[in-house]
Amino acid sequence: MLSTTHLLDIDDLSTEDVHAVLDRAAALKAGEDDAGLSQQTLAMIFEKPSTRTRISFETGMTQLGGHALFLGPNDIQLGHGEPIKDTARALSRYVDAIMARLFDHAAAEELAEYADVPVINGLTDDAHPCQTLADLLTIRERFGGFDDTVAWVGDGNNVGQSFALGCALVGVDLVVATPDGYGLSESVLDRASELGDAPEIADTPEDAVAEADVVYTDVFVSMGQEDERAEKLAAFDGYQVNDDLLAHATPEAKVMHCLPAHRGEEITDEVIESDRAIVWDQAENRLHAQKGLLVELLAES
Ligand code: CP
Ligand code: NVA
Repeated sequence: MLSTTHLLDIDDLSTEDVHAVLDRAAALKAGEDDAGLSQQTLAMIFEKPSTRTRISFETGMTQLGGHALFLGPNDIQLGHGEPIKDTARALSRYVDAIMARLFDHAAAEELAEYADVPVINGLTDDAHPCQTLADLLTIRERFGGFDDTVAWVGDGNNVGQSFALGCALVGVDLVVATPDGYGLSESVLDRASELGDAPEIADTPEDAVAEADVVYTDVFVSMGQEDERAEKLAAFDGYQVNDDLLAHATPEAKVMHCLPAHRGEEITDEVIESDRAIVWDQAENRLHAQKGLLVELLAES
């Protein structure tokens, strides 16, 4: 039983909640837990495209004995002007939970305010808590706990912000290198400080990776930022995760990326195809982490 009804960002969960979700995820992954969600339905609203989030939630609900509904922008009246609060109340009369991938984080908050069922954020412009759960599961599997150091190199975006809060919740040391104007928000830095340790801010990507067990990056141009492309690519010059940057890290350091990757921008093909990359474990763990989350949120025992 979690201490929250909704997951709008990772710090809706307590530290104990995060460990409960990860423990449940690991047990489900190992086939040691037969918890199920028979007869339960998850509505999945998507304003933006998705491969991993859509397929892992849909497959996860099937594996748990339930059902998931894919609701793209042209599938429901939300995409044609029906208010989010009306969508929330109508869906709540049919389904057991709602997962939503939206542009505006405030819209996810409004969805949760009006829904009578749990709302899970499947990515907004500000946050991606389900990615963080998979990332923490991947780190725990790989390193046996959370005593390691992670360097976040690149954009202080949705994925980086939720990850920073997740690190603060479980005690991962995080060092961040972001260009001027693209850092983590003040809100995230304040919330991370309240939860545990705020991330250390490095002067350069080279400084950030020096002591890292993991180097983590995400795209420079996120969904919805296509008009800022030229400006952002210029600002992120020198922040690519490539062999030159990794020469400043230890030979054992691993590389994470939430995917999809834009090879040649934030990361090179050589790095993502190298033995350092653990991106496919991250992608797989979206399935297990979300099954753990769904069971903890929705199962009766
Ligand atoms: N990492 C992630 O959320 O991927 P998708 O956009 O494919 O869902
Ligand atoms: N920051 C990226 C993450 C995609 C999963 C985006 O918002 O497009």
